[in-house]
Amino acid sequence: MCGIVGYLGAEQAAPILLDGLSKLEYRGYDSAGVCISDGRDLKVAKTKGRLAKLSELLDGGKAITGTVGIGHTRWATHGAPSDENSHPHIADSGKIAVVHNGIIENYQQLKEKLLAKGKRFHSETDSEVAANLIEYFYDQGLDFQSAVRKAVDRMEGSYALGILCRDCPDTIAAVKKDSPLIFGFGDGCNFIASDVPAILKHTRKVCYLEDGDMVIFTAHSARFYDAAGDLAERRPEHITWDTESAEKGGYAHFMIKEIHEQPKAIRDTLSPRMKDGAIVLDDLSLDAAYLKSLSRIYIVACGSAYYVGVQGKYILEKLCKIPVEPVLASEFRYADPVLGKDTLVLIISQSGETADTKGALEEAKAHGARTLAIVNVVGSAIARLADDVIYTWAGPEIAVATTKAYSTQLSVIYLLSLYISQCLGTVERAAYDRIYRELQAIPEKIEALLTEEAISRVQYCASQYFNNRDVFYIGRNLDSATCLEGSLKLKEIAYLHSEAYAAGELKHGPISLIEDGTLVVAIATNPALFDKTMSNVKEVKARGAEVLGLTIERLAYGMQRDTDSVIAIPETDPILQPALSIIPLQCLAYYIALMRGCDVDKPRNLAKSVTVE
Ligand code: AGP
Repeated sequence: MCGIVGYLGAEQAAPILLDGLSKLEYRGYDSAGVCISDGRDLKVAKTKGRLAKLSELLDGGKAITGTVGIGHTRWATHGAPSDENSHPHIADSGKIAVVHNGIIENYQQLKEKLLAKGKRFHSETDSEVAANLIEYFYDQGLDFQSAVRKAVDRMEGSYALGILCRDCPDTIAAVKKDSPLIFGFGDGCNFIASDVPAILKHTRKVCYLEDGDMVIFTAHSARFYDAAGDLAERRPEHITWDTESAEKGGYAHFMIKEIHEQPKAIRDTLSPRMKDGAIVLDDLSLDAAYLKSLSRIYIVACGSAYYVGVQGKYILEKLCKIPVEPVLASEFRYADPVLGKDTLVLIISQSGETADTKGALEEAKAHGARTLAIVNVVGSAIARLADDVIYTWAGPEIAVATTKAYSTQLSVIYLLSLYISQCLGTVERAAYDRIYRELQAIPEKIEALLTEEAISRVQYCASQYFNNRDVFYIGRNLDSATCLEGSLKLKEIAYLHSEAYAAGELKHGPISLIEDGTLVVAIATNPALFDKTMSNVKEVKARGAEVLGLTIERLAYGMQRDTDSVIAIPETDPILQPALSIIPLQCLAYYIALMRGCDVDKPRNLAKSVTVE
């Protein structure tokens, strides 16, 4: 999504803004720009295309002087990518400049009113309306802050705004509603940004603005106002992420770095919550009486987070004997779900800002359901809106294609399932202890899947299959849920069409698509279902398919007879096997994408956090 950076201090602003925007490139964008105040005027430089093009235009920032500025990377929503539609937007009389992330839903009505009052527009964007609306009130004699407040009071929708006023060269205003925006407390300078990596080089003291917040700041002061317009205190959080964790750390791409970070990310997520054989879910308490009262658990999310929910159905129902329904967030909010005090809604989101997921959360709360969020970004909108939150401690996930966030979300599902099973007494102690021990061993078993030898095995498979099209992922039970995520990885970074099917479902139609050379990735990690899945493998082999099998080590030999290649993974409790089987599938998609020359970290058309519906 769009990225915003704002700086006010003693140094030249443009180089700081360009560097900050470069740390936000992962959010996906199609144009970029900056506006610098030199004390007399607002100077804008913006262009369609990559940040490098803007930097070249500005000679790395040297071509535009001033110590106050706002910058922006745009992911088009209203108006195609173009120079004119790029941000910052200068208002008609040049007094106000705005950068915006989000969607102003009533921008058409506002634009018509402003046009009727003589305001001129130069773009198709909703964001330019914000600039002209603020300037309109400013021209009515309101001061800068009051003009901003009056304008945003008329705006509907989502917006994070950075605003400059030509006549107030030592001040920046920022407003936050539904789109993320943080404030950075610097030393003799201050910042705003869409996300932490943009300003981590300058400060670790940040606060996540609340919905409705406005901040008016100079280089040495900041006044925060809440949605009601009252002065509010916003305490800084100390960010522990080091700069390297937001850099590539020696890896070729963020994605492969984050794949290798999974053992640590899972350890960081599990260990604070696994004490002496018990599960401690931070300060969350779901007592037995409440859990017994539940008639259903919904798991609501988008994309990969939703696929964790599909895994969660199998895991929670098996361990907790509570009906579980995974639902796509974009469907949930318009489907009239049956909600009430007897339903728990689990919300899963890496960014904590996904618009569809946030909308579903609001829907669940509006209907009186208790909501529990599993989120990676501390202080994000979903984290703050849910009744309870369990954080995944994956650290910043920069690659658009999720890996460590997915794995840590799944880890939290295991924690939650074990926790509930103990409250309800639905799992025998011996079985509980076995799963508990095996869960603690997952990080180490993932390390075994990330050795040079294991990786080169997957690279070899990728070299065999990187030109295959129409790939099928098949499996049963938990393996079929793993197929969903494995298939999505291949789609989103290698741009290869692939489908995930329950293995038993192929013969009900899709098998007609199997022909000579069709690649089928068959996942069969559960000994109890192995023979069944292998009979499906034989069906597709008989129709000419090329089969890449994935199973546990002791079943690999039995798989070799009927497949063309086999990837063997360590064995664990069948219910935990998805935590391991996803690793080679992530690597397979990564290496196939590399071999196809794809932009692995920033795949086309995708954004890391989809903050619009
Ligand atoms: C996963 O690789 C994709 N980037 C996408 O499906 C993502 O999982 C989805 O957009 C949900 O994002 P969230 O977890 O930040 O809510």
